Amino acid sequence: MESNQTPKKRVFSAIQPSGMLTLGNYLGALKNWVSLQESYDCIYSVADLHAITARQEPALLRKQVTETFALLLAVGINPEKAAVFVQSHVPAHAELAWVLSCFTQFGELGRMTQFKDKSIRHADNINAGLFSYPCLMAADILLYRADYVPVGEDQRQHLELSRDIAVRVNGLYNDAFTVPDALIPKIGARVMSLQDPQKKMSKSDPNAGAWVALLDKPDDIRRKFRRAVTDSGSEVHVAQGKDGVNNLIGIYAALTGKSVPEIEREFDGRGYGDFKAAVGEAVVEALTPVQERFARLIADKAGLERLMAEGAEAAGKIAGRVLAKVYRKIGLR
Ligand code: TYM
Repeated sequence: MESNQTPKKRVFSAIQPSGMLTLGNYLGALKNWVSLQESYDCIYSVADLHAITARQEPALLRKQVTETFALLLAVGINPEKAAVFVQSHVPAHAELAWVLSCFTQFGELGRMTQFKDKSIRHADNINAGLFSYPCLMAADILLYRADYVPVGEDQRQHLELSRDIAVRVNGLYNDAFTVPDALIPKIGARVMSLQDPQKKMSKSDPNAGAWVALLDKPDDIRRKFRRAVTDSGSEVHVAQGKDGVNNLIGIYAALTGKSVPEIEREFDGRGYGDFKAAVGEAVVEALTPVQERFARLIADKAGLERLMAEGAEAAGKIAGRVLAKVYRKIGLR
């Protein structure tokens, strides 16, 4: 970078490699990640350390990490513009997470709704990692002195806690961290289940009709939208209580860039059947090129390994410097 230019603001975000990425991940986060790389200094990570808070089958986890990495490139993250890496390849994440856990209160972690939800869903495995997960997430962000963190609505509370931790540590040790801001999209921040539109679309939903994977076959995508739950009405209008239709309008708006009034005009008098088919088609159109790029990328394992190593090296340099500075500030030799 030229010395007379102000440095670009830094963006950091990460995604778990558990299972297939969904349309919710894409509209809530990844689509934004892609556009941000044009004007910001972006660093994106496959959060494999976060994934082991749930039991994982080792061979499957390895495969999912590679596939998630390839999918990030397939949706349009360009490793020449952004650093893309696997979290466990940069040891500073686990190291800073320990430090931050010493500056985070038990009560704060206990209030996290994701922890409470997961403790109910996995009552047989409420491990310490699941509890201190937000400290690792804060470490991810603070290690890069990120200004902005693009995420979906469900990560807002974790982001708030990361900010609180950063402010607290800064209060004790002057300017240790940059306090990050969440970037949550206006449309697409909370894509809902196609079968129960009061629930978030999630890859852990056992009903496969409820969520769309980025690698779903076009005909499966079309079928999932044809069968999407709406209500007994027929007008394509955003309205209170019409969660299914509102969700589909949100998805269509996020993908086509059309405004809600434009969409309402487009489907005026045409009924839900036509509308659901159009949303399915818009999703197929957006995902087909992603799937084609994914097929090419995943066939070149050596190429992916090389990119992972380059990403980890670039990220590790920054993270190592910040970690060393924090160690120094808190008095570790
Ligand atoms: P994860 O892997 O669950 O989700 C990745 C991103 O996708 C967004 N998202 C959604 N957005 C809209 N609608 C949905 N239905 C939907 N489902 C998921 C999430 O908000 C997220 O932005 N802990 C994080 C990963 C992480 C992280 C970080 C994020 C680890 N370290 C540091 C930011 C900064 C997680 O489990 O996201």
